[in-house]
Amino acid sequence: MSYYVTTPIYYVNGDPHLGHVYTTVAADVLARHMRQRGEEVFFLTGTDEHGEPVAHAAERAGVTPRELADRNAERFKRVAARVNASNDFFIRTSDPEHHAVVSKIVSRLKQNGHVYEGTYEGFYCPRCADFKTDSELIDDDKCPIHLIELQREKEDNWFFRLSTFQEPLEKLYAERPEWVLPGHRHNEALSFIQGGLRDFSLSRARISWGVPVPWDPDQVVYVWVDALFNYCSALSYARPGEDLTDRFWPATVQLIAKDILKFHAVFWPALLMAADLELPERLFIHGYLLMDDHKMSKSLGNVLDPFQVMDLYGTDALRYYLLREVAFGQDGSISPEGFETRYNTELANEYGNLASRTLAMVARYRDGVVPEADPPAELAAEFEGLVETVRERLDRVEVSGALEDIWTRVRVLNRFVQDHEPWKLAKDPERAADLDQVLLGAIEGLRVVSVLLHPYLPETAERLLAVLGREDLSLDAARLGAVGGGARIGELGQLFPKVEAPEPSPA
Ligand code: MSP
Repeated sequence: MSYYVTTPIYYVNGDPHLGHVYTTVAADVLARHMRQRGEEVFFLTGTDEHGEPVAHAAERAGVTPRELADRNAERFKRVAARVNASNDFFIRTSDPEHHAVVSKIVSRLKQNGHVYEGTYEGFYCPRCADFKTDSELIDDDKCPIHLIELQREKEDNWFFRLSTFQEPLEKLYAERPEWVLPGHRHNEALSFIQGGLRDFSLSRARISWGVPVPWDPDQVVYVWVDALFNYCSALSYARPGEDLTDRFWPATVQLIAKDILKFHAVFWPALLMAADLELPERLFIHGYLLMDDHKMSKSLGNVLDPFQVMDLYGTDALRYYLLREVAFGQDGSISPEGFETRYNTELANEYGNLASRTLAMVARYRDGVVPEADPPAELAAEFEGLVETVRERLDRVEVSGALEDIWTRVRVLNRFVQDHEPWKLAKDPERAADLDQVLLGAIEGLRVVSVLLHPYLPETAERLLAVLGREDLSLDAARLGAVGGGARIGELGQLFPKVEAPEPSPA
């Protein structure tokens, strides 16, 4: 089976921050998990480089949009690599191959009768690159996202007949109740649709940084239309000489946050229908990472530097924290204090210490060789059905839920070791077989949770599995007892060493 997962493509008008990392890491967990299942996976992320937000930022920085895009796309690429995202391609909408696909598709929209010429008038937010309806405004003239005052603008444009898709979209939502998850986002998108759809302008006359409208080169294609089709265009040129479209389109899961719900859950399916293309199988809408109760965002200035966190604590710790602290799909607050607590109590104590204690006991009591024994029945019962649960949860994009299920077993293992007190068994030669079983059980449990944690903590899991001498990462290996004893274990060191947090820098 093929599995295609995407993140939004991020605007290059600012630096990457934790909010962007969040979606990328979540998509990476899905991609890695599906590879463990033996699926053929394509994972796409990239940058959105056209449009007013970028043109304005370039103007402010005194550089051309292309210079700004080149510089910042590089930063987004680096941050994806730094968080160990295993993306198969990094798309930039300034790629000439992407331009070619966008031109072709908007021409098709016109040929299919979905485009007409008209005049637009309304409140316009240059940061969103979007006109706002009166009911969306705050205090009569403010952008609900950026809280800046907006001007009324008027422009001659090419329009997309979104209004004619009201019925097909309502039908889509009725027929595919899980097309948009979680359910409350499905309802939100549906009520937006039921509230009546207005045509939107497919082109912009005021800027030149973008894909020219093929039949009217004085205008560029509206940045959102240009950007959305990245999900299709990438497949046509990600592998030189090969077109992956038939293999991977329609996308399996598209991840976005709720800020861009309307574009993905309303505009996107309508555009695809209009272009005679298949719709993605699922959109998953996650919530916001909040700091001090506000959405973290460049324009609000409350960002946490992911590089700093990773330099101090490692990449896995950041990945873990993001997906553990905030239930994927809901909003949630993050903080340096919250991070330290999770790092110390869960990663260092519950997982790191479990690993070092267990390995130390195998070294001390069994000369470093995992004993042969059957897994203890009580542990087998606790692990029963775990792989299936994790699979089901990740099929439904419950990224934090799956992690919770795995972590419950990390705690089970700690309790198991605590309850059986192998240090006491080791003193009684008559209980050698019991000790063998407890050690085998703890090691097997550790191995299983590490295979399952691999998508979340790739560096740590690989390191631990290498020390256990069991490097099979496939999901089939994630069953207690799938592997017996006999392996000689290696040196582990500290998985999550204590870190002295630096003094906060003066404001
Ligand atoms: N360029 C558009 C998307 C085009 S997709 C065809 C865009 N870019 S963005 O840089 O603003 O990125 C928005 C996305 O970044 C969100 O949908 C989400 O995936 C991620 N996030 C940015 N800030 C975030 C939080 N504070 N919390 C959670 N996700 C965040 O919109």
